[in-house]
Amino acid sequence: MLYLIGLGLSYADDITVRGLNAVKKCKRVYLEAYTSILMAADKESLEEFYGREVILADRELVESGSDIILENAQEDDVAFLVVGDPFGATTHTDLIIRARELNIPIETIHNASVMNAVGACGLQLYNFGQTVSLVFFTENWRPDSFYNKILENRKIGLHTLVLLDIKVKEQSIENMARGRLIYEPPRYMSIETAAEQLLEIEEKRQEQCYTENTPAVAISRLGSPAQTIKAATLKELTQYESGEPLHSLIILGRQVHDLELDYLQAFCENIDQYKQFVREDQEFFKPPPYVPPEEDEFSD
Ligand SMILES: C[S@@+](CC[C@H](N)C(=O)[O-])C[C@H]1O[C@@H](n2cnc3c(N)ncnc32)[C@H](O)[C@@H]1O
Repeated sequence: MLYLIGLGLSYADDITVRGLNAVKKCKRVYLEAYTSILMAADKESLEEFYGREVILADRELVESGSDIILENAQEDDVAFLVVGDPFGATTHTDLIIRARELNIPIETIHNASVMNAVGACGLQLYNFGQTVSLVFFTENWRPDSFYNKILENRKIGLHTLVLLDIKVKEQSIENMARGRLIYEPPRYMSIETAAEQLLEIEEKRQEQCYTENTPAVAISRLGSPAQTIKAATLKELTQYESGEPLHSLIILGRQVHDLELDYLQAFCENIDQYKQFVREDQEFFKPPPYVPPEEDEFSD
């Protein structure tokens, strides 16, 4: 059996009881270690908590070496641990398809994900549109495909959850060119960098998807002992000190309810100004009045 087990957001004991029981009976336990981190635990503390060895699975192992992970899983139980929920944002579809091809039974044990826990800021999950990911810009690679999705969300008034890049086990271009297996220290995008990159793309595209005054919410270390939430404009967030990872950002949509704003008040320094920017945003994205289709003169 291949068990896909969600670990939740932060602590070793955020795993569910069913997840823990499965881990304890597995012959091999892999921890997917490149799309997220467990903020209040590490490999050693997990090993102590589970009483099992934990094998770190980097991108290369998961994407190119799935047969190693799945070896003998027709007879043996193998656990593949994913921070958050196994189907939250990253789905590891290739591993699952490969397991199916090898006739390996699969069981998923779900857990909390950043994709639902962001509701902690008070914005209704029902009012979110497409989630987007923001990657670290480099000197000559500054992709902006997220912009169209944010614009689509904002046109219909929905909030956008922006997930921020994580770079783990990356090689510098020089080391890669020389074939040296030397890795750069891990990097996690901060709220400040995310806000700057977003505004840079608006400056380039000029389609008024958002502005410096667009209301947003910074979510840091959600579910950990050091969780913080900050409601501010994108411009203000370029100056924010978001601290240790992990971080996510929400760009508000027009359909923000008064109750959502009341809840956000606790995380906002100047709620009157924030509400004023929300109203301006609502006015700007106000849809044109609905015009019903004309009756077809030939219909009976
Ligand atoms: C690719 S997603 C993986 C999501 C994970 N499987 C889950 O279900 O939560 C990783 C990104 O989600 C966001 N994220 C994940 N956990 C977070 C947390 N606890 N607090 C804030 N952001 C988080 C960060 O932007 C991070 O780079």
